[in-house]
Amino acid sequence: MSITLIHPAPDSGWAGQRLDGVLRQALAGREVHTVRTAQELSGLENRRILLALPLGDTGVSLEHMRMLARLRKEPELLSGCTGGLIVDGAGELYTKSSAAEAALALNMAGCALVGRPLVEGTGSLANFAVQAKNLGGSLMEAYRHAARELADQVEGFSFPRKARPEILVLHASSHHTSNTMDLWAGAREKLEGRCSIHEIGLRNGTLSDCSGCPYTMCLHFGEQGGCFYGGVMQDEVYPAVRAADALVLLCPNYNDALSANLTAFINRLTALFRQTRFYDKAVFSIVVSGYSGGDMVARQAVAAMNMNKSFYLPPRFALIETANSPGQALALPGIQARLEGFARNILDTLCL
Ligand SMILES: Cc1cc2nc3c(=O)[nH]c(=O)nc-3n(C[C@H](O)[C@H](O)[C@H](O)COP(=O)(O)O)c2cc1C
Repeated sequence: MSITLIHPAPDSGWAGQRLDGVLRQALAGREVHTVRTAQELSGLENRRILLALPLGDTGVSLEHMRMLARLRKEPELLSGCTGGLIVDGAGELYTKSSAAEAALALNMAGCALVGRPLVEGTGSLANFAVQAKNLGGSLMEAYRHAARELADQVEGFSFPRKARPEILVLHASSHHTSNTMDLWAGAREKLEGRCSIHEIGLRNGTLSDCSGCPYTMCLHFGEQGGCFYGGVMQDEVYPAVRAADALVLLCPNYNDALSANLTAFINRLTALFRQTRFYDKAVFSIVVSGYSGGDMVARQAVAAMNMNKSFYLPPRFALIETANSPGQALALPGIQARLEGFARNILDTLCL
């Protein structure tokens, strides 16, 4: 296996030497094919991809912007690829937001992302404080170590398929009026028979948000398979997540973000994450906005579930639609073909 390094040439005035050094170490001994301009982003299907972004202190890279434009325009550009990202900044801001934006664009162009696909170097590298302490090394050593591990993951990972995978569907909507639920019902009928499907509703009052316990307390409860609050999360949701091969998050756009109930679910997943990683579980999503902003909600799901909580992000993980009044989503032009494509993608990802 080899790695294709997509490494936009840095803007003039920002040399990006720190990232160059990290890449030299992480990729030493591997076969590497390097792409430096948007024009060269062709013929890369079925590759293992590492996107390395030198951002300077403004969060803007002109060549990266040209690459984003191509990824967004050409939804087949990276079909069959699996990837990860290294984002290096000169300041403390913009690394994470640029990474999430790039991750969604890669994914919508057909690239899967391994769980925890981001190695992020902020200007000070303060984000490596915990890893450096655990390794007994410097911040820079922790950065290099993380980049090498990511390159290993990107080069070697393959998602395990099953004869009859288990899908856990999480929602917080009313069945009677929700466009998001209507779309899920349309997808579900195409999955039944080949997957086991378990739906859980996280409506108001069933789930308290994370209380932000001290790390050791969270670890203590997590190791016993629970959380300080207990309740539906501990009794029903944690066991269902453990058993699932994939999660489908049903995400109406609430104020250009995931709803509070789904956010509480993700926050409360932290206790389970202390005890286990989710690299071998996939996350899919249906995102519906009344007016606009579906990409922001999808990006939030990528950042929280894939970049943070380590779920595998299958290619084109989200069906993103715009519909407001009840019934409108299932009447959108072309929706049946998109539902068909979404369901087929789930089956292709999960089933033997
Ligand atoms: C609290 C709340 C906030 C919302 N915020 C937005 C928004 O910021 N942008 C938007 O396009 N639609 C917004 N909507 C509309 C929903 O996204 C829209 O109704 C869509 O159909 C998905 O919701 P549904 O599955 O309940 O139908 C909001 C709806 C609610 C109830």
